[in-house]
Amino acid sequence: MTLFKTLTAAAALCVALGTSAIAQDYPAHIEAAVANDARLDSNVERDSDRKPAAVLSNYGVESGMTVVDLFAGGGYFTEVLSGAVGEGGRVHAHQTASRLETSRSAFEEQYALFGNIDIAEMVDGRLPLEDNSVDFVFFGLVLHHFHFDGAMPEQRPERATNLYAEVMRVLTPGGTFGVTEHVAVEGSSREQSAGWHRIDVATAVADITDSGFEFAGNADEIHVNPEDDNANFWGETGLRGQTNRMVLSFTKPE
Ligand SMILES: C[S@@+](CC[C@H](N)C(=O)[O-])C[C@H]1O[C@@H](n2cnc3c(N)ncnc32)[C@H](O)[C@@H]1O
Repeated sequence: MTLFKTLTAAAALCVALGTSAIAQDYPAHIEAAVANDARLDSNVERDSDRKPAAVLSNYGVESGMTVVDLFAGGGYFTEVLSGAVGEGGRVHAHQTASRLETSRSAFEEQYALFGNIDIAEMVDGRLPLEDNSVDFVFFGLVLHHFHFDGAMPEQRPERATNLYAEVMRVLTPGGTFGVTEHVAVEGSSREQSAGWHRIDVATAVADITDSGFEFAGNADEIHVNPEDDNANFWGETGLRGQTNRMVLSFTKPE
């Protein structure tokens, strides 16, 4: 990315964050990770939506860490995590089998530009990682795919239980599980909120703490939009990229 584009992206981020955020300083290694010109332009363009410096600073991502980007998709956070953990760190980008079938070489090409990213493929529900080997697992805007199953509409789906158990296995004691998700109106059912591609905050927290994690907070001030009533499918209401979001932190007990 050119210097002009970097400055334009930084200015856009400040406008989106509001006046108070202009004065906000984030750690230098996080700011540098966001400014990394190896990032895809299509990802950089989403900075005002994803607010990567605020999110990764909130999670305390440090140089040298080993991290997993679960369901990494287009690699928005994979790329920024790469810079944040630096040369001495490692990013395991988890992709689904179906995405790897169609796009493995594209991911390999994208990740090769960074030097510390590899593909983590799940086989029989297990990541190719040792127990207690990961400092931070990021689960970004995917939870809405894991909180509702028509066969058991009132309960946490079994595949969510299995996924959280796998996160628990690979995280080091004291490690952080970071979960961002679109907020559903308080008290909404799993079935209602599934249609909105959102989840009620209390249900999200209960699902994950019931899996043994300790709840360590919600930085819900990062993504706030008074125009969002939390009871709509953002893909159909023009709110894509502008939803109210929870930024949940959980800890694996020591
Ligand atoms: C909004 S993207 C988020 C990608 C990435 N985590 C991020 O923060 O940019 C949603 C991801 O969920 C995955 N996904 C979609 N439907 C799914 C499903 N039914 N089960 C599991 N993952 C699904 C997609 O492949 C995509 O990577």
